[in-house]
Amino acid sequence: MGIDTEVAIVGAGPAGLLLAHLLHLDGVESVVLEARDREYVEQRVRAGVLEQGTMDTLREAGVGERMDRQGAVHEGIELRYHGAGHRIDFAELTGRAIMVYGQQEVVKDLIERRQADGLPLLFEVEDVEVDPDAPAVTFAHEGERHELRPRAIAGCDGFHGVCRHATPDGVLSERTREYPFGWLGILAEVAPSTHELIYAHHERGFALHSLRSPRLSRLYIQVDPHDDIENWPDERIWQELHTRFEKPGWTLEEGPVIEKAITPMRSFLVEPMQYERLYLAGDAAHIVPPTGAKGLNLAVADVRVLAEALTAWLTTGDDSQLDSYSEKCLARVWRVQHFSWWMTSMLHRFPEEDEIQQRLQRAELDYVTSSRAASTMLAENYTGLPYGWEAA
Ligand code: APR
Ligand code: PHB
Repeated sequence: MGIDTEVAIVGAGPAGLLLAHLLHLDGVESVVLEARDREYVEQRVRAGVLEQGTMDTLREAGVGERMDRQGAVHEGIELRYHGAGHRIDFAELTGRAIMVYGQQEVVKDLIERRQADGLPLLFEVEDVEVDPDAPAVTFAHEGERHELRPRAIAGCDGFHGVCRHATPDGVLSERTREYPFGWLGILAEVAPSTHELIYAHHERGFALHSLRSPRLSRLYIQVDPHDDIENWPDERIWQELHTRFEKPGWTLEEGPVIEKAITPMRSFLVEPMQYERLYLAGDAAHIVPPTGAKGLNLAVADVRVLAEALTAWLTTGDDSQLDSYSEKCLARVWRVQHFSWWMTSMLHRFPEEDEIQQRLQRAELDYVTSSRAASTMLAENYTGLPYGWEAA
């Protein structure tokens, strides 16, 4: 069965859902196809830090109301090492802030809006096949095969999606770096022991204290990426957390662990992010290590550029913005790749690191926490460079 639409969007993560909504606000029709069911995408626990620009984008698009009620604005973070905490004051250094609000909450808000608008969003689609040259997308839904013949396709189907692989060999150059560690993340039913995120550097490895709500804490420790979660009973995790966060006069409160998993860490991207009328956005095109909390924010930056470029082409016929989609996005992608790599390198313990490496890390931490110029660099990148900064 054929379905009429202007843009086919594969994937209902933050990238696909926000793109669909921004296009709708500009009067462009789209259909969103998602492989999983609604509950799965709404429950998937991911990161939870929104840059200033991301929160502004959601507000301007009319989907920031619950975020403003339930999220928490943070004006700084703590870097903790050698038993002492050092605050990086975002508000004072940059006039910008971040919002702590779970990614799956953003996804819930966007799904609810899409459904309230009565616009097409299909869950549990199967066998999605993408032909960028036609362009066409075929898929099965509720036992029937369908075909979309849109003007353009947005590949928002994440790192494991199909869109990136629908391009002929040799068109996209892939660059990957695997890190020799992963993050073991837990969600715990306990009031956060901190008001702001704590990034801890410790000789036993990195640890992060993040938050979700007044009663939910999100914590991470650096572990071997090949380690089995079965090796980590809750007591062992808490013990490691206590050690890595140790600071005189400060206590980490424990609570029931309601979710735990180990995630590997990588830097990955493709260049360019487009081929014919297929445009990749979000995790389908790039992955950054989570130390800078950038994944979701980079996806939002991509789809802002893509929505504007698609609208210009579909309403005026001018495709010059679409031609430079990839170039424009990649300027930010590489900046963010650098920042995420830099935060990761400064804070983690590397296997077989020598004393020089350790002293270099310490020198970097001392500099970042004592120099206004260096802490402003961290603050500017963490809260997110303003949109259009690359053209300035
Ligand atoms: N057909 C349809 N949907 C698919 C397919 C497919 N063949 N393959 C994957 N998907 C769906 C996934 O189920 C998922 O819901 O595409 C969606 C991709 O969403 P995300 O992985 O969340 O990626 P993205 O929207 O780019 O979000 C940016 O930032 O913090 C990071 O990794 C985090 O997901 C986050 C990302
Ligand atoms: C999170 O809250 O899940 C989180 C916060 C900061 C990061 C990564 C993850 O750098």
